[in-house]
Amino acid sequence: MGELNSGKKELLLITGSPRKNGVTNTLAAMVLEEAGLIYKNINVTTLDTYALALKPCTHCGYCKKKPACVHDDFLPVDAALQRADVLVIASPVYVLGFPAPLKALLDRSQQYFEAKFSLGITAIERHKKAVLLSAHGSKDDKGVCFMEEQLKLVFKAFNAELNASITAHNTDSGHIDFDALRGEIKTALTGIL
Ligand SMILES: Cc1cc2nc3c(=O)[nH]c(=O)nc-3n(C[C@H](O)[C@H](O)[C@H](O)COP(=O)(O)O)c2cc1C
Repeated sequence: MGELNSGKKELLLITGSPRKNGVTNTLAAMVLEEAGLIYKNINVTTLDTYALALKPCTHCGYCKKKPACVHDDFLPVDAALQRADVLVIASPVYVLGFPAPLKALLDRSQQYFEAKFSLGITAIERHKKAVLLSAHGSKDDKGVCFMEEQLKLVFKAFNAELNASITAHNTDSGHIDFDALRGEIKTALTGIL
């Protein structure tokens, strides 16, 4: 168990499902409930990537010359990433990967890679512990494996480490053990907060 009230922690939840009452957002709500129970002094920022509708990276080269993106729609994401201690990515599996709006956010991490490798700047100083929550329509693990690999790469730019990956499998069958998933979430957060 984390140290109760020993200092404010910033939790950033990034969601990638268009279905407000779908499996992904149900798991995301559980994370917020359980995090609040485990660690009282927590501040939450939620970014819904469908609402944000970030422009996709166009590989224009702007971030090779300046530590920024040519499009200013990423600024709220950057501000939230700068202050986060804990990062939760909640996403359904779409065609073995992230839905397009969330993938657009991940692609925009290119500006942080360019900051490092072209400009010699560390873009995000604060280290984050991270959790992937995923909703996987089928029984297999394929999509989640690809998503974890993508995150491991992006997390180098976000200064984050993937501490836990929790998946609701076989969601399209309609049989989802939410109690067991809540238990997994609780265990993962207890190890992080
Ligand atoms: C466009 C689209 C693509 C999908 N691709 C996959 C897939 O590749 N593998 C899979 O197991 N399920 C796939 N699914 C099923 C979703 O992962 C599943 O329904 C999930 O529970 C949706 O998350 P939500 O309940 O949060 O909306 C897909 C669903 C959609 C709408």
